[in-house]
Amino acid sequence: MRRDMFAIPPGIYMDGNSLGLMPHAAREAVLRRLDDWQRDAVGGWDAWFNLAESLSPSMARLVGARPHEVIATGSITANLHALLATLYRPEGPSSEKGRRHLVATSLDFPSDVYALQSWAEREGAEVRLIPSRDGHTLHADDILTALADDVAVAVLPTVLYRSGQLLDVEGLTRAAHERGVLIGWDAAHSVGSVPHALHDAGADFAVWCHYKYVNAGPGAPGGLFLHERHHGQAPGLRGWWGHAKDTQFEMAHHFRPAAGAGAYQLGTPPILALAGLEGALAVFDSVTMEEVRARSLELTSRLMALAEAHLPEMQVVTPHDPACRGGHVALAHPEAQALSVALRARGIVPDFRQPDILRLAPVALYNTEAEVEETVGALRELLRTGAHREVGAAGLVT
Ligand SMILES: Cc1ncc(COP(=O)(O)O)c(C=O)c1O
Repeated sequence: MRRDMFAIPPGIYMDGNSLGLMPHAAREAVLRRLDDWQRDAVGGWDAWFNLAESLSPSMARLVGARPHEVIATGSITANLHALLATLYRPEGPSSEKGRRHLVATSLDFPSDVYALQSWAEREGAEVRLIPSRDGHTLHADDILTALADDVAVAVLPTVLYRSGQLLDVEGLTRAAHERGVLIGWDAAHSVGSVPHALHDAGADFAVWCHYKYVNAGPGAPGGLFLHERHHGQAPGLRGWWGHAKDTQFEMAHHFRPAAGAGAYQLGTPPILALAGLEGALAVFDSVTMEEVRARSLELTSRLMALAEAHLPEMQVVTPHDPACRGGHVALAHPEAQALSVALRARGIVPDFRQPDILRLAPVALYNTEAEVEETVGALRELLRTGAHREVGAAGLVT
């Protein structure tokens, strides 16, 4: 739907859920900021000083927030630590009853679990991982059971990184609050693909990256949402870039937090990387998230239907209900890794996730039905001939 706004490499790209393709506007914005640096040197800071804050209105649209509730900074992992440092307030010593434990899921991306484990270790608390009944998805009853009366904070994925299951953010946020549990969301696999209403849902916090569906480039600064009801307190982790902007350069040793989520910045922002985000957001300024979602569902529905019709050897593990799936489709097969390598050798870029998942992301902004059809056709051919078994599992890391 916006294919002409992107640099499209040769072949078929189905890996926008790992690293989104480059919007022309992102390249132009980075070059513009390089020109600033070349021309203005340190004087460039006049324009760069508020760059992160200037991106908040566009980011807020993506996540359904108020602009002062979001900021571009850090990474998912760093932002999760920063938010836990503020919001995780375990009650009482570990021997006593009180809200002190943390909840995540057995299907989480590992970095989130590592972050929670570091806080649990400091506090003598547990990280409880919600089990999966089928190894791919989570059942709402198991999530609700985990939101127990000794849990302080739950961090859940909006979309599961392997199966692509989309959780009910609004319903689970409500359920967590009814049970007295603070709830944060890892929205890495939904921002830029699925509309959000984080403010209205009342989510306490959320973290996400911009290098997947937002197309801001490798290692682009992440995103952080903190509901305005938590804005009164000083961040648990502080740095000079989170200081109120008007007096930041007074260099006082008394920290006066910036109003809103901006207070969660720590050090000097990476201006060249932020420029990639600046350009990428211009693409989203030209569409609504409802349009993006409708197109994404069209493409994933087509892909799932074709996979079921033509690839009976592969199991579609992504939920069929559109209300329960994000922007990618996961196909399970014991030879998924070899299939991924063989597809790449043929110019089609999927990715593989342990132990047996081939992920395909037909991205609303730039993929086409013809690409979906060709990808399924190539898989059909590989499974028929067994040619993928001849390709060594090259040391791919993505
Ligand atoms: C769901 C999810 N959470 C967390 C991360 C880690 O993100 P970061 O490296 O930005 O901290 C990733 C990275 O891909 C992810 O997919």
